Amino acid sequence: MCIVTIHEREFAIIKVMNSNPMDAFWRHSVGYIIYPESFKDSNNDGIGDIGGILGELDYLRELGVNLLWIGPIFASPMDDNGYDVSDYYAINPKYGTMADLERLIKEAHARGIRILLDFPLNHTSDEHPWFQTALKDSESPEHGYYFFRKGKKADGKFLPPNNWKGFFATSAWERVPDSDEFYLHIFSKKMPDVNWANSALREQYYEIARFYLDKGVDGFRLDAVAHLAKDLSFSDAMGKTDRDGLVYDTSKFSNRPELFTYLHDFKEQVLSHYPCCTVGEAGGCISPEDALRLADRENGSISMVFNFDTVWNNGNYGSIGKRDEDIVTDVLSLKSNFMRWYNVCHEKADMPLYWCNHDHPRVVSQYGSTTYRKESAKMLLTTLLFLYGTPFLYNGEEIGMSNATYAKAEDYFTDVGTKNDVLQCRKNGYTEEQILSYLHRCSRLNARTPMQWDDSENAGFSKTKPLNAVNDNYRDGINVLDEMKDPYSILNFYQFAIALRHDPIINDQVLNGPLSIVDPNHPDVFAYMHDGAHKLMVISNMRPYQVYFTFYYEIADVLLHNCEGVVLNNHVFTLRPYESFLLRLR
Ligand code: NOJ
Ligand code: CA
Repeated sequence: MCIVTIHEREFAIIKVMNSNPMDAFWRHSVGYIIYPESFKDSNNDGIGDIGGILGELDYLRELGVNLLWIGPIFASPMDDNGYDVSDYYAINPKYGTMADLERLIKEAHARGIRILLDFPLNHTSDEHPWFQTALKDSESPEHGYYFFRKGKKADGKFLPPNNWKGFFATSAWERVPDSDEFYLHIFSKKMPDVNWANSALREQYYEIARFYLDKGVDGFRLDAVAHLAKDLSFSDAMGKTDRDGLVYDTSKFSNRPELFTYLHDFKEQVLSHYPCCTVGEAGGCISPEDALRLADRENGSISMVFNFDTVWNNGNYGSIGKRDEDIVTDVLSLKSNFMRWYNVCHEKADMPLYWCNHDHPRVVSQYGSTTYRKESAKMLLTTLLFLYGTPFLYNGEEIGMSNATYAKAEDYFTDVGTKNDVLQCRKNGYTEEQILSYLHRCSRLNARTPMQWDDSENAGFSKTKPLNAVNDNYRDGINVLDEMKDPYSILNFYQFAIALRHDPIINDQVLNGPLSIVDPNHPDVFAYMHDGAHKLMVISNMRPYQVYFTFYYEIADVLLHNCEGVVLNNHVFTLRPYESFLLRLR
């Protein structure tokens, strides 16, 4: 896409509204997720910024990605790193200015790269003027933008209105100081949930979306979108209570019927008037059937839905108290999860594909191995890239960055979610050793260490020490500059593989050729095939040891391979640790 003048943009809108949904740009894109704070610091204050992204657009173009999801950059007190917005119409000064964003859109478009902004619309910051007004004046319209409810009184104490537990390990309610009221927050207490049942509130969000779409952004990643509708009866959740009497039941605030109505209206009023892409985040709790209702090309409201079913298949999630050696990727369920989503969605909806984002462990540490870093990183890319959908890669994945290895739990406290988790684990009697090993596997900080650009101090990310310390392994060749020089690096493999994914024949095959898992019961190998005019097959050993895989096909080409030589005897492949192929079959 070129730089758009008003006239061209209007033309583009008309074109897109009449165009074939199968041509939608995200179907032909490879996405890349940027976590702004940790990507690149252009003014050396220790914090990544828009200038840093601008300076690396050529790098991203060379890598071959063409759809950036940029983490939240609106004004924010940064309780949850920008997901707590205090002004949607201002850019966080730590990241730059509105003029910087405008330049970013223009420069990215000039390179054929589109931009999705992260849009937190389930909550604001408690420092947002709406919330401040709501606190001061219960008669104000803004009071109706949030969920205030009277608490229960027991033994002279005020207790929350119900027993809901939020995502960050605390009650989902916080008491308003000097009042008998509480407000709802399903994330941190500095992130009050907004009330989408209120039409004036919805209008506010429509206006914000129009503001950025008019500036030329190509769409949004809709943060926490599954939670926009709540159980407005606010009745207690049933189920197992924790030691504080709280129940974690996300169905009270996830994928409720009104969500579909809200998003349909958002589409009618705003989204359908722009050539934009919207990717809803529906963590942990959405079924493929509900995702299809949201993203159906004919009647849905948004373009795609991120699900979490495939990102925690190794038993990492909730593994506090377990030992590393007991965490083993369940390859069978990983395959069946991908296929469950594919089977429900592929004819009617587009799907994003990803292994990692700023909320998950690094993918080599989770599904791969730091011992077989190169092999496993390449295998994981090959496995993901040719499945049905739009791949989203996470910054640093392309050089095989691994989890943080901080020395004590407090080093992880810059993430409010992790901090609350640790406090909860301590309350539950886990030892510091158990907590630390859990953090090394699971903390959201693992993916938030600064991007490793070269082997100079702070990995070339900044001249000032960043808030989250860099991973020391940047000195061991795990950085962009060193990997550029190594023809067998993960980075060069990524570049080559992404170029293949963009090949029109391969892209067509991946999106339209029927996909099936080959040998679905193989416990160690993830293998699949796209049938049709051109047959493609991926075979990936997901284990750190040698396994065997029976193979009855005729190979036309080896398009990608992460090891030297091929061991195939009498229809049996001997697959070395993390060995992986993309093959064209006859
Ligand atoms: C999902 C985001 O990815 C996560 O980082 C954030 O904490 C929550 N939504 C709340 O906005
Ligand atoms: Ca900076």
